Amino acid sequence: MKKSFGLLVGAALIAISGQVAANEAEEVGAKIYDRAFGRGCGACHDIASNPQLKELIKAGKLPKDQFSKVLKEGKNGMPKAVEAIMAVGPVKKANMTEDQAIDAVYTYLSK
Ligand code: HEC
Repeated sequence: MKKSFGLLVGAALIAISGQVAANEAEEVGAKIYDRAFGRGCGACHDIASNPQLKELIKAGKLPKDQFSKVLKEGKNGMPKAVEAIMAVGPVKKANMTEDQAIDAVYTYLSK
C-alpha cells in the first residue's frame, strides 16, 4: 500500500514536471516571436500580406519540418532566423539547442 502510494506520487510529479517543461518552452517561444531580430517575427508576420504563421499551423498547412527548414535556410523575403533566435536572452538562459528553440516557437504558434 505504502509503496504504491509512493509510485503514484512519483508518477504525478513526473507528469507535473513534464507540464512545466512544456509551459516553459511555450513561454520561451513567445519571447522568440516578440524579440528575434530585435523587433520580433511579428514585425513582418503580423502584417496581413505576409504568411500568417498561427493560422497556417492551426490549419495544418505549415508542418514543423517546413517551418524549421525556412528558419534555417530563409526563403525569399524571409531571412535566415536561427542565429537571431539563438541570440534571444531567454533561449540562452534555458540553454536550448537550435532544434529545441525552433520547437518552442512552433509550440507557441500552435496554441
Ligand atoms: C523581415 C521580415 C520578416 C521577419 C523579421 C520574419 N519573417 Fe518569416 N517570412 C517573411 C516573408 C516575407 C515570408 C514569405 C517568404 C516567401 O514565401 O516568399 C516569410 C516566411 C516565413 C515562413 C514560411 C511560411 C510558409 O508558408 O512556408 C516561416 C515558417 C517564417 N517566415 C517564420 C518566421 C519566424 C519564426 C520569424 C521570427 C524568428 C520570422 N519568420 C521573421 C518575413 C519575415
